[in-house]
Amino acid sequence: MCSTDKRKTKIIALCGKGGVGKTSIAAAVTKILISDPRSRVLAIDADPAVGLASALNITVRSTVDDVRNLLINKIENRDSGDRKQVISLLDYEITNALEERGNLAFLAIGRPEKEGCYCQVNDILKDVIKDLSRNFDYVVIDGEAGIEQINRRVMESVTHLMLVSDQSAKGIGVIATLRKVAAEAVHYERIGYIINRIRDEIELGKMQLPSDVEFLGFVPEEETIRNSDIEGKSLLNLSDCPALDSIRKCLDKMGIFHHEIPDTKCGCC
Ligand SMILES: Nc1ncnc2c1ncn2[C@@H]1O[C@H](COP(=O)(O)OP(=O)(O)O)[C@@H](O)[C@H]1O
Ligand SMILES: [Mg+2]
Repeated sequence: MCSTDKRKTKIIALCGKGGVGKTSIAAAVTKILISDPRSRVLAIDADPAVGLASALNITVRSTVDDVRNLLINKIENRDSGDRKQVISLLDYEITNALEERGNLAFLAIGRPEKEGCYCQVNDILKDVIKDLSRNFDYVVIDGEAGIEQINRRVMESVTHLMLVSDQSAKGIGVIATLRKVAAEAVHYERIGYIINRIRDEIELGKMQLPSDVEFLGFVPEEETIRNSDIEGKSLLNLSDCPALDSIRKCLDKMGIFHHEIPDTKCGCC
């Protein structure tokens, strides 16, 4: 067997207060990871507002929630078949919901769950997404502000949790809360935080940074990131800039992405 087959998927999630730059950083991380053509990357938009789709310029045709609702309707109409048929239907529908662009695939989670208990459906869905993740080298999850919604679906299997804040005390406070929630709910391997949109050294001195989470790096305020958002341009086309460089270093620090010289041998032949 080729050595690359044994490689474990790195599942990276970006979490933090609303507006701190999770989506922008998730898009930048995706851009960095797909720059290696050998890497298969799945980007998951877990925000109901589908911000990552816009940041990557992807039109969402179907979401995980659409698939979930389809299955619930089938179950309610006694038209779902046995468990094996349900799993195969879900596999088919989720694959259908994937948007593929070269070595990048994209999946949107959709709206928060509707009222009522559909635990079994959610569990099956979580398994299908987990299985899907195994086909990729990296999964990048753009989380919504709170951790709870995705917690029940995909967060559980996150391996690298990147907490994001801006320079505000509120944003930094949310990092501390998320770290506590995540300690109980996510079986992560690494956790760290990024401070985004830093304008100058004076700001740095005033901040009360958390001491119980690994600091990954500062990302500077970047005109081109803001402009891309204003003009609705894809962050995948972002040119090399200090912010992109900082995000690359944060990934490096977390052991996610190394600037290795590609090894052309597969190790078994
Ligand atoms: N480093 C940065 N430099 C400049 N603007 C940024 C930076 N990071 C994020 N932004 C801008 O801040 C706003 C909020 O970012 P976004 O990524 O949507 O946050 P979140 O997903 O956490 O709500 C957007 O307009 C985005 O363009
Ligand atoms: Mg967002």
